[in-house]
Parts: sequence; C-alpha cells; structure tokens
Amino acid sequence: MIPNGTGEHVEILGIKTELIKVGGDLIDAIQKGMERTGLALQDGDILVVSESAAATWKRRVVKLELVEPSKLAESLASRFSKDPREMELILQESDEIVGGIPGVVLTMIDGFFYPNGGIDHSNAPPGHVVLLPLNPMELAAEIHMLISGNKRIAVLIGDSRTHPLRLGCVGVALASFGIDPVEDVRGQKDLYGRELKITRKAVADNLVSAAQIVMGEGDEGIPAAIIRGAPIPITDSGSNIPTMSPIDCMYIGALRSKSRHYIGGYDDLIEQAKQAREHAYVPYSGFKVGAALLGRSGKIYSASNVENASSGADICAERAAIAKAFSFGESDFEAIAVVADAREPVSPCGICRQNLIEFGHEIMVIMANLNGQISIATMGELLPNPFNAHCFSIK
Ligand code: THU
Repeated sequence: MIPNGTGEHVEILGIKTELIKVGGDLIDAIQKGMERTGLALQDGDILVVSESAAATWKRRVVKLELVEPSKLAESLASRFSKDPREMELILQESDEIVGGIPGVVLTMIDGFFYPNGGIDHSNAPPGHVVLLPLNPMELAAEIHMLISGNKRIAVLIGDSRTHPLRLGCVGVALASFGIDPVEDVRGQKDLYGRELKITRKAVADNLVSAAQIVMGEGDEGIPAAIIRGAPIPITDSGSNIPTMSPIDCMYIGALRSKSRHYIGGYDDLIEQAKQAREHAYVPYSGFKVGAALLGRSGKIYSASNVENASSGADICAERAAIAKAFSFGESDFEAIAVVADAREPVSPCGICRQNLIEFGHEIMVIMANLNGQISIATMGELLPNPFNAHCFSIK
C-alpha cells in the first residue's frame, strides 16, 4: 500500500478545462488543464471526474427534438409535468419508475435512486440533455488507465444527490477505481470504548462531496479535481458503489409501513374504544371491535361492530361511530381509535377507510390490540389517492 497522507493536511485542487464538447477529449482537456497550472499527478492522489463531463466525452448527449415519445411517456409526462421527450428518455434509461412529484420523477437504476433517470439539463448544450455514463465502473477504469501514467492514483466518477428531506445536494460517487468505496468500521471503538455496530463510512461519497467544493455544479468549468494527502489506501481494483436492499434501508422501510408507533395523547380515546368493544354483537365471527371517534368539539362517540346473518349487512365499529356522531350533530373529526383482540393492531377495513376519508385526510387513526400494541397513521396515509367528489364532478 502507498503511504498516503496522514490526513493532517488534505488539499483539493480544482482542474479548470476548456469546455468539453460532445465527443471531445476529456483526458486531453484534464491534462492540459493541469499543465496550465503546473499540476502533475502524484502517488496517492484521488482524481474526481464529474459524470456529466465524462458522459459528454462518451457522446451520451441527446438532442430532444429527435426523441419520439411513446404513449406511456406522454401519459407519465402529463402526470409528473415533464417534457414527453425527456420522459421517453427517462423510461429508456431507468429500471423502474418509483414515483414522482411535479417536475421530478424518482427512478431506480442498478439498485440506486436517480432523479429523472440520471438525465441532466445542466451542462448540456441548448436543446440537449446529458444521459448517465453507460458503465461508470468501466469508465473509472478507463480514465485511470489513460491518465495515471506510472503513478498510483485512484479515480472517482462524481455525481450529486439530495438526502431525503434535506435541502441541498451532496456528492455521490457512481464508481471508483483504486479505493474501496465503503469502509466498514463496525467493531471499532467510539470515544467511550463502545463498539460501533452499524457504521460504514461512505469514503467515495465523502471524497466527491469534498471535491465538489471546488468543482461546483454550474459554469465553473472545473470538471475534475485532485484530492491530495487524504489518508486513504490506494488499491488496484475498481468497484461500483455498493447498495443495500430496500428492506434494509431505514427510509424505505419506515415509509413503506405507512404507520408509526403511538407515543401518547389519545389514551382516553383508546380506553373508550375498549369499553365499547365489550358490547359488540358478533355471533358469527366472534371478533369484537370497538371504535371511539373524537369530534372537534372534544366529545367522543364510541361504538362496536354489529353483525348480521347476512354477512354483507355487518356494520363495522368505525362506521357505527360515524353514524352515532352525526346523530349528535358532530361532523368534524380529529381522531379515531380502533381496538380488537388481534395479533397486530387492528387496521380499519377498506369500506371504513372510504367512509372516514370523507371527513378528512388529517384524521388520526389510532390502531390498537388488547396486548397494548398501538400504531398510528393519518387517514391520508392509510388511503392514498382516494375516490372523492372531485372524481365525478363535471369538468
Ligand atoms: N370489523 C370492524 O368492526 N372494523 C374493521 O375495521 C374491521 C372489521 C368487524 C366487521 C365484522 O363484524 C368483524 O370485524 C369480522 O370481519
């Protein structure tokens, strides 16, 4: 291993180049840029190259005028407020369309999220877009081969991304050659001697973020940077950046479940639902359910399920509570608690969800069982995209 820097003094040296044209020689441009400022690669250097410059070199640039959108692209474009031609390219580039908001489509490529299939307008000639490099790992190896000479250096392909709910872009590496992109520090001790259990260091991403301080995202004309003196060993191999399965990802795992643990605030409501449950009429299923609906007036309307020999005529506890509230003149609701003797906190059935969402997406639903397991979710979370009056109103 090359004894790199000690980490006490790390330098980040931006390499300003002429504008890289489509198919233009990026390697030559970087070398000339270094010569102009008297820079030369040294053992241990980490060269970060922007993915859009590398993609432009590799002619991954498309003139939008020449793209013919499919029917699917047109319908998704209107749903996500995108240019249909760009939407067509997004479909071609992505493994999966995960969803989107107006203006941005969230896509999955090789197990990682990309906004808009990695397609970029910035740093593209007018009327054109830049696609992701085809194979970032091969690209990192190729740049390494063309530029390293007799020096032991590493090459990172750098891109930028946002974190969920965090404003602003950070650097991410799409591939690396010459350093291990993720360092496993599990088993090491913290300041107080406790063993680190889950920490892995995103070394490659951290380096790209550091380089982006000088590279910028706009018209700086700095498509590459050298990180010098970082205490990171140089290796002889390339790597795509490791991803994790969606099940192990806390963001996806937590958001998919659509319900959260109850942390208090509705104990009385839960208690009243429990009491109403005792009065359930359930000769057919034996499954007693109690519901307690909290009106904006502060009053609580509790009810149980009422079954029938003709099972389609069963009335669920939630709907019984709604009918009871209305008969007392209450029509605005804050929350509803539902309790049953079930293995998991009981979750309102589809018909009750439709009935409840009629009175607001914000109604808090507290779902409990008799073992004390309780979860909460808003009605909007339990029934996204509901059928409502707007669906059939005359346009
Ligand atoms: N039930 C409710 O009262 N609420 C629900 O949200 C789920 C189902 C009742 C209806 C029926 O009496 C019994 O549970 C079994 O389906």
